[in-house]
Amino acid sequence: MAPRILLITSSLFGENGQSSTLAATFKAALAERDVQLIERDVIAEPLPHLTGPEMASWMTAPAERSAEQETLAALSDTLLAEVEASDLVVLAVPLYNLGIPSQLKAWFDRILRAGKTFQYTENGPVGLLEGKSGLILAARGGMYAGTELDSQTPHLRHMLGLIGINDVQAIYAEGLNMGDARKQASMDEAKQAIGHYVASRF
Ligand SMILES: Cc1cc2nc3c(=O)[nH]c(=O)nc-3n(C[C@H](O)[C@H](O)[C@H](O)COP(=O)(O)O)c2cc1C
Repeated sequence: MAPRILLITSSLFGENGQSSTLAATFKAALAERDVQLIERDVIAEPLPHLTGPEMASWMTAPAERSAEQETLAALSDTLLAEVEASDLVVLAVPLYNLGIPSQLKAWFDRILRAGKTFQYTENGPVGLLEGKSGLILAARGGMYAGTELDSQTPHLRHMLGLIGINDVQAIYAEGLNMGDARKQASMDEAKQAIGHYVASRF
């Protein structure tokens, strides 16, 4: 079966965002490959903040859900099905205020679901997804990769790791707000790295 890829984009600037440009580069590199691609833009189709009633819907047996609970549960179920149906989850992520876009957090809030994608045990949480890997395409105004100020990549790795996605690589375009020359060089380098990634993997 052709590898299945879930590509998540999350720039406030739509296809003009730099992280979206990295996502487009990734897609273009896949053009000749035999892969199945599912795309989800969490800005174009924004998810509301997670609420108590929505969580309660998850904990209610499907046969016992009210009509409202069915609608609420369907949100997470749809997103989860996309993750479950993929071998590789690609996250195109801008750095906003030292973190991930809140819309992307709302996506994670619906796929990090106890009993579905991880479970609590006496030894701590255990991820339930198997055989999946992740790729982070990070776009940033400043320079943070590899420093303790980069709280974003560890956060993403921990969230993916919680559900069992531990094989995660990251490609960075940094310094995008530090002058045109830096921006150009950084984007070129990231695009090249994306090309290598796709060539080595698919
Ligand atoms: C609301 C907002 C907050 C930002 N916060 C940061 C930040 O904390 N650190 C940083 O290096 N760049 C920051 N930036 C710059 C973005 O990381 C940079 O513009 C990047 O290209 C965003 O990705 P995008 O173009 O895909 O949206 C911020 C930009 C916006 C719009």
